[in-house]
Amino acid sequence: MGDPLDERDQVTAALTVAAEEARAYLADIDSRAVLDPGAEEIIHGWSDPMPEEGDGTLAAVRDLATRGHQAATRSSGPRFFHFVMGGGTPAALAADWLTSAFDQVGYAWASSPMAGRLEQVAVDWLRQLFELPEEFGGVLVSGATMGNFVALAAARNWWAEQHDVDVEEAGLSALSAPPILAGGYIHPSAVQAIGMLGMGKGSIERFTRGAAGRLDADALGARMRELDGPAILVANAGEVNAGDFDPIERMADLAAEHGAWLHVDGAFGLFARLTPEASELAAGIDRADSVIADGHKWLNAPYDCGFAFVREPARLPRTFNVGAAYLPAPDDPRPNPGFLTPENSRRARAFAVWATLRAYGRTGYREMVERHLRVAGHLSERIDQAPQFERLADVKLNIVCFRARPEGVAEEELDALNGRLGEALLRDGRVFAGTTNYEGKVAFRPAIVNWRTQEEDVDLLVDVLVELLEAQLGR
Ligand SMILES: Cc1ncc(COP(=O)(O)O)c(C=O)c1O
Repeated sequence: MGDPLDERDQVTAALTVAAEEARAYLADIDSRAVLDPGAEEIIHGWSDPMPEEGDGTLAAVRDLATRGHQAATRSSGPRFFHFVMGGGTPAALAADWLTSAFDQVGYAWASSPMAGRLEQVAVDWLRQLFELPEEFGGVLVSGATMGNFVALAAARNWWAEQHDVDVEEAGLSALSAPPILAGGYIHPSAVQAIGMLGMGKGSIERFTRGAAGRLDADALGARMRELDGPAILVANAGEVNAGDFDPIERMADLAAEHGAWLHVDGAFGLFARLTPEASELAAGIDRADSVIADGHKWLNAPYDCGFAFVREPARLPRTFNVGAAYLPAPDDPRPNPGFLTPENSRRARAFAVWATLRAYGRTGYREMVERHLRVAGHLSERIDQAPQFERLADVKLNIVCFRARPEGVAEEELDALNGRLGEALLRDGRVFAGTTNYEGKVAFRPAIVNWRTQEEDVDLLVDVLVELLEAQLGR
């Protein structure tokens, strides 16, 4: 086989194979193990030499599909509670396929008017979904990490403007680094963004009370009074260990009083705004200067997808757009989403976002979030009823933080036991949940965001953990 042009008549056959294989992969995703026994051997053995002569379109697609069936981590299925990961809703998944078929470049109107316009529509639908003010504008990004980067770059631009410096032109050496203030819930990706933006990971001041890292708002307020000038506040709406929130309303008051920029990382917690059962946690987010969240978490858009909003959208092209003679003019009034992020060539992520919102609407998402809160409540009850387990935190939203604490095991042995139990769970493969360190204790922190997840899936988590714990204890 040679030049792909010789295989142009294989496009339909290749897509038919892909559709059949995808259908087969998804057919048992509700019941099959997250990771098949033996998957790792297949993965380790996946070391074919670089082909001099290709095998042709269909052979390549079939080989990927056949090995992929056994090797893939079924993280888009209902029992992957590791990290915080959704799956693609039916509409988002199908739209994502079309995204590849259409292969639109979401840079500018000039590269694809459809991609530019649908990103504008999808971002505004998201704004409305979360009831953010009309003046907010935003952009789709690869995830919350890039969302934090985009939003904090806008914050840096704002800080520099306070000092009459064009920071993108002159660099940070032209001004002093901004004070960056946060609680202990700040996510590592926000820390990473602050580092990448040259503002110094080490310069972040954290105000905490208690071992979990809760914000000490009084200490934060005292520091802001002392600074007596602008600063960047980083708030977390939904922290990864127990789903707790910083007191955003209080932080918004402080930001307003002292003229600070308030950034809210709501990677998954922004979805608390969709239901009256949890919206209190996310109150005040509409007062922020920038807000970000993930699309591949609770929105259940396929990887990768996230979004960033800023109160002054004009700041984004000022921050990122450089321009060139062959590119659209910086003042081109048409939707040019590539002006608003560090990425120029970009996948048209808007199609999946648009399709999933079109398919399920505000009501569908509210119902899904409320179901997930019930599933988290059910898991919490199961943990409370099981004498071998101890819940470590209130269930504020969709994460249940707990550890095994069987009778007869000394406190100083519990971390090692829970660590071994976590490894055994991942080796077992039927259901995935990761461990963390919560208030100095090794603990599980299953997060429920996948559209497929129901009570029976978290029941399986508890049952498998009980079984593996008995084995660990040699009972
Ligand atoms: C609060 C928070 N911020 C940021 C991130 C980073 O998200 P991503 O990995 O999608 O970039 C996460 C991921 O779990 C998160 O929980």
